[in-house]
Amino acid sequence: MTHATEVSQGTVAASAQHVVKTYGSGDTEVHALRDVSIDFQAGQFTAIMGPSGSGKSTLMHCLAGLDNATSGVVRIGDVGLMGLSDKEVTRMRRDRIGFVFQAFNLVPTLTAKENITLPIDIAGRKLDEEWFDAIVGRLGLGDRLTHRPSELSGGQQQRVACARALVGKPDIIFGDEPTGNLDSRSSGEVLSILRAAVDEFSQTVVIVTHDPRAAAYADRVVFLADGQLVRELYSPSADDVFEVMRILGEGGEN
Ligand SMILES: Nc1ncnc2c1ncn2[C@@H]1O[C@H](COP(=O)(O)OP(=O)(O)OP(=O)(O)O)[C@@H](O)[C@H]1O
Ligand SMILES: [Mg+2]
Repeated sequence: MTHATEVSQGTVAASAQHVVKTYGSGDTEVHALRDVSIDFQAGQFTAIMGPSGSGKSTLMHCLAGLDNATSGVVRIGDVGLMGLSDKEVTRMRRDRIGFVFQAFNLVPTLTAKENITLPIDIAGRKLDEEWFDAIVGRLGLGDRLTHRPSELSGGQQQRVACARALVGKPDIIFGDEPTGNLDSRSSGEVLSILRAAVDEFSQTVVIVTHDPRAAAYADRVVFLADGQLVRELYSPSADDVFEVMRILGEGGEN
């Protein structure tokens, strides 16, 4: 395990300061995030882990402006999301953020190719064909591009969702279990593309995963439990990650 790479300089791509997220009220109140503060350095690959229900998706949705925190401050770069109108948040997401949803969120009436290029089409930007071909090739989607999501396997849909998040080369890519439905080969392809996004294009990547092998691709692994950050590791091996999961009882209580 290396402890050396704790980042001392560099810019912050996204941050949460004292973020609280409470769903419902009274008897049905759920404290999904209880005062979470974390910075994500630009050009770093972070994996978020923790038991089911620990708040991973909630944190990611708040960071990406898909959900509002109950209190606290979320920033993308140096821009606080709280101070933005809905329209400005939408534009920020469109221009700077790629998001792979836990449930893919593909548009059922569009083909795989149309789904992938949707964010670029909406933004009125020009598709980088070479980059598109490279992503589609590496994710093994070349012969599925004219099919609609209902005609794709779960793993193929997930790879389309990953391609969609990557194709516009956003500053930050958030992936909520982007390899959750993939076999080890496809999972390896997705993770190496994300790794390359960081190493070659200085993008920032934040993923949620339950898989210690996936987490081992990251520069930093943070652990959530019951809505709080409880541990972090820098450049861990899969075994290091597994050991912390074991200690924290991942998959157990929340
Ligand atoms: N819209 C909602 N309304 C009420 N409670 C919610 C809502 N969304 C999430 N929760 C609750 O907030 C807590 C955190 O949920 P979250 O989806 O962030 O967990 P997670 O760590 O992503 O879990 P998983 O690994 O199963 O995806 C859970 O107890 C969940 O039931
Ligand atoms: Mg989740």
